[in-house]
Amino acid sequence: MTFRNLEVLVKNCREAWRGERKMQRIGFAAKLIAGVLEFKTMIDNETIPVEYLGGKPLCMNQYYEVLSSCRIPGLKRDAVVNHAKSSRPPKHITVVHNFQFFMLDVYNRDGTPLTTEQLCVQLERICDASLTPSAEPVGILTTQHRDTWGKTYADLIKDRTNKESVLAIQRSIFTLCLDGPMPQVPEDAYRSCAAVQMLHGGGSLWNSGNRWFDKTLQFIVGEDGTCGANYEHAPAEGPPIVALIDHVVEYTRKPEMVHSPTVPLATPQKLHFNITPEIKKDIEEAKQKMNELANDLDMRVIVFSHFGKNIAKAHKMSPDAFIQVALQLAYYRMYQHCCATYESASLRMFRLGRTDTIRSASSASAAFVKSFDDPNKQNTEKVDLLEKAVVAHRSYTNLAISGQAIDRHLLGLKMQAAEEKISIPDVFKDPSYAKALHYRLSTSQVPSKTDCVMCFGPVVPNGYGVCYNPMNDHINFAVSSFNGCQETNAADLAQAMESALVDMRTLLEQTPRAKL
Ligand code: COA
Repeated sequence: MTFRNLEVLVKNCREAWRGERKMQRIGFAAKLIAGVLEFKTMIDNETIPVEYLGGKPLCMNQYYEVLSSCRIPGLKRDAVVNHAKSSRPPKHITVVHNFQFFMLDVYNRDGTPLTTEQLCVQLERICDASLTPSAEPVGILTTQHRDTWGKTYADLIKDRTNKESVLAIQRSIFTLCLDGPMPQVPEDAYRSCAAVQMLHGGGSLWNSGNRWFDKTLQFIVGEDGTCGANYEHAPAEGPPIVALIDHVVEYTRKPEMVHSPTVPLATPQKLHFNITPEIKKDIEEAKQKMNELANDLDMRVIVFSHFGKNIAKAHKMSPDAFIQVALQLAYYRMYQHCCATYESASLRMFRLGRTDTIRSASSASAAFVKSFDDPNKQNTEKVDLLEKAVVAHRSYTNLAISGQAIDRHLLGLKMQAAEEKISIPDVFKDPSYAKALHYRLSTSQVPSKTDCVMCFGPVVPNGYGVCYNPMNDHINFAVSSFNGCQETNAADLAQAMESALVDMRTLLEQTPRAKL
């Protein structure tokens, strides 16, 4: 499992939740389900408002890929199936509690979605039917390396009951994970702990077995009110997931108006698994590997509260470019050199577009970061270099989102050579190409309306994953690194990032605009 494939969204709803005395976890989870179903209706009716980037409409296809879909492990290659497009689209979700899976029909016979009240009844039934943790957390198998999981999967589904259970999970609209406890941490570490709960579940002793990581969308509701989502990246990027979460959060704040029909509801069906000694061994191995992965990941979520998008805008600069240049400065201050940096750019201006790469480390950013702490340089010169770096970043962004970046093009050529069985062109074997793809900084902006943050892991052993959500007057950051690497430290980069942003603002404020 690479962490990059699993991005998560963490929303701290604890305060809102605690405020509502009567609303306990099940009540909240029920409302969450109802909110997703309302959004699903908008997807099904094609009434989600078209999104725009830079005034241009975006392809909305990804919205049709995130519900009722799942990644399927293969011996050589995985596949993604989407059951929303089948002749019998699914009417159920899966709920996992105490490592046990249940199939929950979420529509009445007349096609109306279950009300929050009805969903509460059903979730209570599920919790009552799974009071103690299952001895065999079969979901942990989905954390294994894909090749290993591919082989285990082939064995697992030889059994008919197992096959039916797995199919029910794969077909379900989404998965709801009602988690067990997480380790107690001091308040200042809460956000980071919540992020790893969403990203990997904390390891086999905590909630990693309370997942089906192949599922495109899993909503997670913790015992203490922490909630968020985990999504499998193959079918879509973050923005449609964020739009869904924004909708759900908004929905959970509204009072319930609908009265429940008085028809009896079918008991949610438990999904059984027959565990052979071989599968049991695979589960034990998966637990061990998962714990190694969980222990190796260092995640720091910080709220940069000094300012947000507002300051860059006030200085007539692109906020995204400003943050990326600050990240270059932070990295340079830590390592005294620059590194290949990845930022995702949306290609959704094109039909079925996914992403290309904005290469944030440029000659202009290098000139700026090298000058910034140089006492021999005047502030006016530094501001000039900062402006040039920001403009260069924004220009690259404009090229990337209009399909003029280089990375996917080169990747396409490389793949084509392999497909046509011709020898790989020398350029792809050159060490400089490998170096250019060794992204010690892998970054992504995922904006949202609600105050939340996504996170993911580094893409190279000695690198960082940096995801950020710039709000108007603050910025949420999730910075990750691997504990096994002596050269990297997520907390240090997060700290350096804060200092860089503050110092850049001070520079701008101390340097009169007239002199620019
Ligand atoms: N002066 C004043 N304001 C400016 C400005 C300037 N020079 N340049 C930009 N702004 C404003 C914009 O108008 C925009 O205003 P808004 O908040 O009212 O919408 C705001 O600042 C943000 O613009 P900017 O920071 O430049 O970023 P962006 O919104 O154009 O986004 C990317 C840049 C790269 C993040 C975006 O193009 C993209 O590709 N996003 C998708 C990434 C993705 O898919 N991530 C998920 C991967 S899983």
